Amino acid sequence: MAKLFEPIKIGNLTLKNRIVMAPMCMYAVYQEDGELTDFHEAHYASRAIGGVGLIFLEAAAVSKAGRITNQDLGIWNEQQTIKLKKLVHTIHELGSKVGIQIAHAGRKAEHAPDAVGPSAIAYSEAYRTPNALTEEGVNNIINEFKTAAARAENAGFDAVQIHAAHGYLINQFLSPLTNNRTDDYGAQTLENRYRLLKQIIEVTKTVFSGNIWVRFSATDYDDASTTIEEYDQINQWMKELGVDVVDVSSGGLLPRRPDAVYPGYQTKYASHFKAYSDLFISTVGKLGDPVLANYILEAGQADLISLGRPLLRNPNWAAIAAKELNDKQFEAYNPSYSRGFDE
Ligand SMILES: Cc1cc2nc3c(=O)[nH]c(=O)nc-3n(C[C@H](O)[C@H](O)[C@H](O)COP(=O)(O)O)c2cc1C
Repeated sequence: MAKLFEPIKIGNLTLKNRIVMAPMCMYAVYQEDGELTDFHEAHYASRAIGGVGLIFLEAAAVSKAGRITNQDLGIWNEQQTIKLKKLVHTIHELGSKVGIQIAHAGRKAEHAPDAVGPSAIAYSEAYRTPNALTEEGVNNIINEFKTAAARAENAGFDAVQIHAAHGYLINQFLSPLTNNRTDDYGAQTLENRYRLLKQIIEVTKTVFSGNIWVRFSATDYDDASTTIEEYDQINQWMKELGVDVVDVSSGGLLPRRPDAVYPGYQTKYASHFKAYSDLFISTVGKLGDPVLANYILEAGQADLISLGRPLLRNPNWAAIAAKELNDKQFEAYNPSYSRGFDE
């Protein structure tokens, strides 16, 4: 059996294969109420039918003000939770496990009347300058993450992914380029910059019994920002707190792009963390070639393959990958789907 299709046990969660759907905003909540729509249900159910081991729902805001846009999913009220619970049930019926990414956009909240951040530093000229959060404001946001995690528990999710990547609020606290506070959450020490993430993990742990994932940007593409060695330390702290998996992404803090984006361009960071930490490691970024994805697992560079765009292009990516890797054990959700490969 190709490694991509080998089951994996992470804490109390067993996945049938190593294929993970990365969180991807659909910006499709046209009622602006943060609630799932029929489209979302069909969208995620299709990927479950397609054989994805673990499906992450897109960034769901922990508060109305924490949305990237008004079309984002939310996880701050009961009606949202009822709909999420129904989708979790559907995805389980279709044979996949399901998680949700919980997020706060911070200074990158595009539609909020008043964006907030660790410090009053704007993302770019196109964005408004955020209000620096007071300590009370920070505590409120930690509480919002806690409530969101409790709702995720209630909805039956197998995993939550705390969004600490791509320049959103937690990433903003982690970096000395966006955080010039002088209090306990401030820039003087790594421990201080990490404190918000730490406290969010701690409160999540008290209410959520499933897998805890953290997604971070291994590099912000600026030497003056958080370093890989600092993330090694953060990983050690997160392991001690009971985090299960880190999903290693990059960028988004500053308006700049990596010099080169090629298949597996972020996997060098994942393989570093795989070598230097005891956490399960997920890699993401242009991994749509099944041979490459399988090789990364075989070579021990990561434990899981997260896919974004490949699963937008093709919800049946797993079946195609099984065919390409000559994996005869792959079982389509419905046996008739196998007929799709008849000559
Ligand atoms: C349409 C779209 C929406 C995305 N939304 C999110 C998101 O909600 N949260 C997140 O962490 N990353 C988001 N991403 C990034 C993806 O999860 C993924 O990391 C990125 O696309 C690189 O992986 P890929 O090459 O497999 O697409 C998004 C990407 C796309 C294409």
